[in-house]
Amino acid sequence: MTILVKNGVVVSPTGAITADVLIDGERVVALLEPGTTRLGVDLEATADVVIDARDKYVVPGGVDSHTHMQMPFGGTQASDTFETGTRAAAWGGTTTIIDFAIQRTGERVLDGLAAWHEKADGNCAIDYGFHQIIGGVDDESLKAMDELVSEGITSIKLFMAYPGVFYSDDGQIVRAMQTAAANGSMVMMHAENGIAIDVLVAQAIARGDTAPRYHGLTRPWETEEEATHRAIMLARMTGAPLYIVHMSAKQAVATLAAARDDGWNVFGETCPQYLYLSLEEHLSAPDFEGAKYVCSTPLRSRAEGHQHELWKALRTNDLSVVSTDHCPFCMKEQKELGVGNFAKIPNGIGGVEHRMDLIYQGVVDGHITLARWVELCSTTPARMFGLYPRKGVIAPGSDADVVVYDPNATTRISVDTHHMNMDYSAWEGFEVAGRVDTVISRGSVVVRDREFVGPKGHGRYLKRGQSQYLL
Ligand code: URP
Ligand code: ZN
Ligand code: ZN
Repeated sequence: MTILVKNGVVVSPTGAITADVLIDGERVVALLEPGTTRLGVDLEATADVVIDARDKYVVPGGVDSHTHMQMPFGGTQASDTFETGTRAAAWGGTTTIIDFAIQRTGERVLDGLAAWHEKADGNCAIDYGFHQIIGGVDDESLKAMDELVSEGITSIKLFMAYPGVFYSDDGQIVRAMQTAAANGSMVMMHAENGIAIDVLVAQAIARGDTAPRYHGLTRPWETEEEATHRAIMLARMTGAPLYIVHMSAKQAVATLAAARDDGWNVFGETCPQYLYLSLEEHLSAPDFEGAKYVCSTPLRSRAEGHQHELWKALRTNDLSVVSTDHCPFCMKEQKELGVGNFAKIPNGIGGVEHRMDLIYQGVVDGHITLARWVELCSTTPARMFGLYPRKGVIAPGSDADVVVYDPNATTRISVDTHHMNMDYSAWEGFEVAGRVDTVISRGSVVVRDREFVGPKGHGRYLKRGQSQYLL
């Protein structure tokens, strides 16, 4: 089947050109000056499907490199399955996710990976890959890290938080980083000082400070900055590449930026919730409403200027990627587990559907350029995690993951209209400029005319190569 996406403005990190995009089967085969014939053939007359993208942007499908579909966590399970979550992602113009397979202390890494394949296989609307959480660094899991690379899993996540669940001590981190440095894996780090946080949490609960906002107040910026600094130092000692996930504190970002300025191979991501939502307006909402916004790292104070600094860091490339950390829980029976004790609220916010729109709003608001939008949401995550140039770019030979984006329409976000399996939206009432118009995933139209038309189980597992950011 051939598809011609005609007359659109094709955006890449190097800029924008008006072009027709020709797709044959699962791949992009050509970018052409609008209206040109190819070897004497009138493409518009011969293409099976013609999509008119005049006055619209044509961008590479979004790559969300941080999601948690049906993840068991906090005494419950993330409410999106691979089926519902990847469908919602497609609605929002994301055509690739990288989810986290989990190994907990005492479990075998490859068993955790097998369980994740079982959850995802045949259920995804879009293509997907996995990172591997190593929740118990020992001789066996270190050995398994080499096997992961041949399985296409070239990044691991370690936790400096959540003692007793996923936590690694500094010695374990050093050993895992040494292994990663040797086998070419990227180390992703949840950088919060979990030992200190657990003391502050216990003290708050003992004082009777049990409302959701204390989740944020017991995870002050110092716990993120200290862990970020320590992770960078350990990476320097071991020669491992380091990618710090879900950064929210401006001080932690400043520490990352200083290390990058010094030439160290360290990277950071942030997420839309840290750019728009805050401790004051959201996490502190009364009547347990703040539970909707409990995630870690926590939302930060607007008055302290974190959001402003995060946008700046995205502009200057101190931060390299925007992911969602999509980890949805319903209020009913899930977030409610923490009524009377914020420490029992499952940590996470759902947003896989809204990242492209929310970051496009950053273009409209003058924080970043159009080209940077594509770079942050698609091209860099593909490069960072060994998917480029298959994903992250519209070029001959790339997978035909293409989004037609309408800058003249608007999106109003609401639980009534979103497609994630959640009984609330953290973005309720947000009006954003721009709207996803048409989504093509590996040559199949999956969203068109406000309808999901993708075949079930269309998404394939992506064996990833090494990060392009290894030295
Ligand atoms: O609150 C969060 N971030 N939940 C998901 C798990 C994690 O640490 O990424
Ligand atoms: Zn994390
Ligand atoms: Zn996460």
